[in-house]
Amino acid sequence: MPYRLTIEPSGHEMDCDSDETILEAALRHGFNIPYSCRNGTCATCKGRILSGTVDYGDIEEKVLSEAEKMDGLALFCQAMPLSDLKIEVREIGAAKDIQIKTLPARVAKIEDVAPDVRALFLKIPSTERLQFLPGQYIDILLKDGGRRGFSLANTPNDDALLELHIKKVEGGTFTGHVFSAMKEKDIVRFEGPLGTFFVRQESTRPLLMVATGTGFAPLKGMLESLFAQGSIRPIHFYWGVRHSEDFYYEDLLQEWQSLHNHFNLTKIVSQPDSRWSGPTGYVTEQVIKDFPDASAFDAYICGHPDMVFSLSAALAQAGLDSEHIFADAFVFAK
Ligand code: FES
Repeated sequence: MPYRLTIEPSGHEMDCDSDETILEAALRHGFNIPYSCRNGTCATCKGRILSGTVDYGDIEEKVLSEAEKMDGLALFCQAMPLSDLKIEVREIGAAKDIQIKTLPARVAKIEDVAPDVRALFLKIPSTERLQFLPGQYIDILLKDGGRRGFSLANTPNDDALLELHIKKVEGGTFTGHVFSAMKEKDIVRFEGPLGTFFVRQESTRPLLMVATGTGFAPLKGMLESLFAQGSIRPIHFYWGVRHSEDFYYEDLLQEWQSLHNHFNLTKIVSQPDSRWSGPTGYVTEQVIKDFPDASAFDAYICGHPDMVFSLSAALAQAGLDSEHIFADAFVFAK
């Protein structure tokens, strides 16, 4: 039996089936609420239950603690209704009218960009157009019914090829295939665009953008889009990796630095060797050291959940309100 779901403060009402998550119901009715991973790991969809009860689903304590549940919070990508519900969440208008499509794509180009990272360039049929916001992701659909999410690294105004950055994962079914057998002209199927990780254009705040590893991909799309728009919002971009050879697109980074005075780049290595002379350590500590008062920024963070959670908490401690923190936490797709 469907329950009644009301989103506040908008007052939008809809039905939500008892075997459907709150997020699925909202998206089914065309209301876009924040989400990213859809599997309970990133906490992007965390929001407040104002009234009613839910089945919280099988979630890890570090993503949603017992104390947060007691405080009325839930993960909307996991929580299913046990009664009529009223929830509190900010709806996102920008992605609302973008159609999510399932499309085939041809592998147009494969480039090795770092020891364990391949850039995959996909061409969709010429009769199709994929409208998306920079920073969103697509799910590659596997033959066994599985799906693997990858951020789009290109911009909508440069969409002849869709660009994905694939990190090799030991024992990974899909990434193993990408590194061992995939070749140009292969066909893949995908669904997208997905997620609500994109730059809020209505803001004029300076930007703090932080990536680890291939978390660089969606931020690359966001940055190129901001540059193309002529935005002059100051940008402080931090990129953390384990080894210095894990950085890639050096020429592009240098070009951004030489062309855009408002773009500041900090690269940081956590396990440096003698070839690295730049900053060392973890991005979280470096960002907070540089900005002990972070209250004026909009922060966009993408990388491993541990980094995303620790930096989000540290930024909150440094005075940044949670409504100005946008994050995309991912575990490497296998
Ligand atoms: Fe719900 Fe990631 S935890 S979208």
